[in-house]
Amino acid sequence: MTTLKLPTNGVPQEKLISMMRDFRADDSDWKNAKTWSLVYYAGEGLTDLLKEAYGMFFCENALNPMAFPSLRKFETEVVAMTADLLNGGPEAAGNMTSGGTESIFLGVLAARERARAERPQINSPEMVLPTTAHASFYKAAHFLGVKPVTIPIGADYRADVEAARSAVNDNTILMVGSAPCYPYGVVDPIPELAKVAMERGINFHVDACLGGFMLPFLKRLGHKITEFDLGVPGVTSVSADLHKYGYSAKGASTIIFRDASFRRHQYFIHTDWPGGVYASPTMTGTRPGGAIAAAWAALKHLGEEGYLHLASITIETTKKLIEGINSITGLRVMGKPDMSTFAFDSDEVNVYLLADAMEARGWHLDRLQLPPALHLIVTQSHSGIVGPFLEDLAAATAELTKQGKTEATGMAALYGMIGTMPDRGAAHEIVLGVLDDLFKHKPQ
Ligand SMILES: Cc1ncc(COP(=O)(O)O)c(C=O)c1O
Repeated sequence: MTTLKLPTNGVPQEKLISMMRDFRADDSDWKNAKTWSLVYYAGEGLTDLLKEAYGMFFCENALNPMAFPSLRKFETEVVAMTADLLNGGPEAAGNMTSGGTESIFLGVLAARERARAERPQINSPEMVLPTTAHASFYKAAHFLGVKPVTIPIGADYRADVEAARSAVNDNTILMVGSAPCYPYGVVDPIPELAKVAMERGINFHVDACLGGFMLPFLKRLGHKITEFDLGVPGVTSVSADLHKYGYSAKGASTIIFRDASFRRHQYFIHTDWPGGVYASPTMTGTRPGGAIAAAWAALKHLGEEGYLHLASITIETTKKLIEGINSITGLRVMGKPDMSTFAFDSDEVNVYLLADAMEARGWHLDRLQLPPALHLIVTQSHSGIVGPFLEDLAAATAELTKQGKTEATGMAALYGMIGTMPDRGAAHEIVLGVLDDLFKHKPQ
């Protein structure tokens, strides 16, 4: 690593801000809706409000809710409103977290700890999850010493219930379903899966990180949506991200349990510390007050009417994009997406080359693997770019088809290689190298 020293004298504010502006030059252009993930933007009005709310509580720390009753009010109200949206009864209990990964981590932790308390004979806990469950479940499993047991999906890209039933055994502490899954945007058969979990007396976590603030509104708009939330018997916890379709500031998600007895298993308490009695509801210690305040402001400001409006624009935009992509010769949307996230693949062009070609036109598309596909998360901000995006996509596809080019270079080569390497250990090594390189300081 090359060294970088702190500047001897501080850089003046104006110069610094100007430098930081310049550094953004190569960043993805989310504001003009050129990205299809990472940023959920509901316009300048809401963004200004989020900044103001965040700024107002910028210094406050929700580590100790007794010190900041305002933050406690915000968090408990955000959780109560979310629980209501997700059909939790008056007994529902939850917390705000830093994001989907932390919420999922807590769902897995609570299941493991419940099993430790109620089924101490289990030495090697397992969780059953579809291949399409978010990678953060594997991360949580890795951190928490839980074995992930993966079950296949059907031709419709939804979890196979019979496979799930067969995978459950005496060591299973948790079953998982997504609403919807990240790759294909379809909701798993939650009622059927949760029934299996209930029969076995184990936790069932629904990952509604993407759908938690979209599916309830689509339902109200008359869309047919599989039941997926705490209204389903057997569902014990749901994660729903405020910083996705809740359109809040980053660093905000929720985990909601059926009741406080399930939530207790996520708490960490250390009563014998010279530093005082330490009680922490979630994974992090210090929790930024700004993210909590901004989430409260988003929910209160948008209200049901605001979210319905955003959901309606988003789903109409998604419909146009799906129709448009399916009408481009060679491209095909995979399955029947339930909301505004989906993937498309192709038998005729190498989709990784297509992603590179779109990148050259300024569009940042996410790449999927197993099988190769490209991915879109649609938000209201894409409503203004459907035409230009589809035109570019059609032109890039036609060019690649004409060239008959399949040999990949750059990003396409990397993705193609990693996805098809039979030796997954070697693939792991390559990705380790990529990460090392990404986080290496390079003098410029
Ligand atoms: C379905 C799903 N679950 C969980 C996550 C993880 O959320 P986060 O990136 O906020 O940790 C994501 C992120 O895209 C997701 O799509």
